[in-house]
Amino acid sequence: MIAPVKIVGIGEGLPKLIVTNKMMEQIVDTSDEWIVQRTGIKQRYILTDDTTVSISVEASKKAIEKAGLSVRDIQLVIASTIASTDRVPTLAGSVQRELGISDCPAFDVSAGCTGFIYGLVTAASLMDTLQLDNALVLAGEGISKHIDWADRSTCVLFGDGAGAIVLRRSSEGSIHYPVLMGKSDEENVLTIKNKDDDTPWYRYPSEQNTKLVMKGREVFTFASEVLADTITLLKEKCKDKPFTKIIPHQANSRIIEYVARITGFKQDQFFINLSKFANTSSASILLALWDAYTQRWLAPGDRIALIGFGSGLTWGGVVIDWTLE
Ligand code: ACO
Repeated sequence: MIAPVKIVGIGEGLPKLIVTNKMMEQIVDTSDEWIVQRTGIKQRYILTDDTTVSISVEASKKAIEKAGLSVRDIQLVIASTIASTDRVPTLAGSVQRELGISDCPAFDVSAGCTGFIYGLVTAASLMDTLQLDNALVLAGEGISKHIDWADRSTCVLFGDGAGAIVLRRSSEGSIHYPVLMGKSDEENVLTIKNKDDDTPWYRYPSEQNTKLVMKGREVFTFASEVLADTITLLKEKCKDKPFTKIIPHQANSRIIEYVARITGFKQDQFFINLSKFANTSSASILLALWDAYTQRWLAPGDRIALIGFGSGLTWGGVVIDWTLE
């Protein structure tokens, strides 16, 4: 157990616009059949006049309401994002302002698609260190702003979205066996470069690509390896009471199907909802958790593993005893 805390509220926030694969056919040379076969994705939500902050606020508000708390009860806000509305203030700070959350520690974590796992473990640990009662942990991503919409090999894969949970101190802890890991991305398999803005003292030689660039096959191999390794490691750690369900980062259904085969789990032990949302980076595990909860795929008493992997390169997981009715 990381700390004596449990999840008491959960919520989601989504942009208004749904972009189907048929709509993608209008903007790049692709087909619904190719996208579904190679990825499992059927549609994605994309920001228009909504923002990463506005969908994160919506998710956070729902999670706080579900927890039966008021914004005055929140004593820590951690947001994970690689694609917030502003560089400054932080996403956590913007959510704090928009919701009127009282003065408390509020900051962002950035660990690619693994960001929510990093945020969750950090929040649970800080709640213990600072002796806090309630924390808001959210993930909000507006990754559509960083996509090259002319690159068919990446633009069909991603979507925008936000999710949030509330953690509360409780005598029986429900978050166990944290695994946080990272290694250098030697081959630049997944990057979103900053713009090299000139200063009065330096003129940069050339404009670099500031959109998402990905080496799909290399990422597929990395993702499959670390997802399988983390499942095996967590399985080893909780032999006494094994987890029976897995909610992985939602990048590609083929990654999940392959990992299910090599780790000996059944396909239906993995929750997959990327057909609806595509890859929403660090929001994906939260959106899957919310969907699994509202569809009653999760029930109180279930022991589940949440596992993320992504740019950085990063990966990580936790085991949770689900208690929310
Ligand atoms: N529509 C139609 N054809 C396409 C598309 C598209 N959207 N994109 C690529 N193609 C073509 C390619 O041009 C290529 O054509 P060619 O054979 O004539 O050259 C062909 O399809 C095969 O391309 P590959 O890249 O080899 O296709 P692959 O089977 O590897 O699938 C994919 C590509 C889906 C990106 C796969 O590599 C993948 O899922 N990788 C993992 C990436 C991932 O999940 N990233 C998520 C972000 S990172 C993260 O969350 C950890």
